Amino acid sequence: MTTQEDIEYSQQLVAILETVWGEGFLSPGGPEEVAMVLEGSDLNGRQVLDIGCGIGGVDILLVHEYQAAHVVGIDVEEPVLEESRRRAAREGLSEHITYHLVEPGPLPFEDESFDVVFSKDAMIHIPDKAALFNDVFRVLTPGGIFVASDWMRCDANPPSADMRTYIKAEGLSFEMAPPENYEASLKEAGFENVALRDRNPWYAELARREYEQIKGPLYQILIKRAGQAETDRIIEVWRAMCVVLDSGELRPGHMRAVKPGTNS
Ligand SMILES: C[S@@+](CC[C@H](N)C(=O)[O-])C[C@H]1O[C@@H](n2cnc3c(N)ncnc32)[C@H](O)[C@@H]1O
Repeated sequence: MTTQEDIEYSQQLVAILETVWGEGFLSPGGPEEVAMVLEGSDLNGRQVLDIGCGIGGVDILLVHEYQAAHVVGIDVEEPVLEESRRRAAREGLSEHITYHLVEPGPLPFEDESFDVVFSKDAMIHIPDKAALFNDVFRVLTPGGIFVASDWMRCDANPPSADMRTYIKAEGLSFEMAPPENYEASLKEAGFENVALRDRNPWYAELARREYEQIKGPLYQILIKRAGQAETDRIIEVWRAMCVVLDSGELRPGHMRAVKPGTNS
């Protein structure tokens, strides 16, 4: 069970990420990026699983904007789930979104429980992508879709010194793999129509602007919300992240895959 000491997404970190990335989001791009991840996917009336839901901003969108019938959000940290539950209640969506604290490892759901499995920038924390995709395949109904975005690494070589500096600055449990590994593991799990989209150019450019904002107009706001020490730490995180985005070693990207069969 995740204890207080294991919490990676502290209140201060969440406050900073939400300020930079938008209310309810612990990942970049907001609703526009979610729209691109979901391009061509029909969620209307579907049962959706969100792996690594964080503070739940995406789940509100999945119901409000994409008419999902029900979303189950899972995460390994209770404080972010509490925030998600409050958000769903404020939006009057508690009956449409449920949240579960899970242990890292197998998904605690019956076979064929979901029409859509979604995840945004959370699988980077999960070391065994092959096991994860086998399990995602298992919990999907035939014809079900897996749609996600994640932060990957350009190749399987050891990380560069710049990447090691970035990962150390983040201080989060990152387990990066190259896009080719994701693609191969999805196919091995049995998925069809596997497609990946590189988002490095988009985020390299946006992250530069975020870095300028954090050091400039947002600086005093972030100090007020998260304290001086965490704000200064985050400036170094963004600086180091921009280096590995510019070099192309850090490769945010989208993926989509279909479980063979017919979705009734
Ligand atoms: C970068 S945040 C993204 C949150 C959310 N998807 C968003 O886009 O705002 C990653 C989330 O994944 C969660 N996480 C880490 N390991 C996990 C695991 N094994 N299973 C489910 N969630 C996990 C973290 O606690 C965190 O809330």
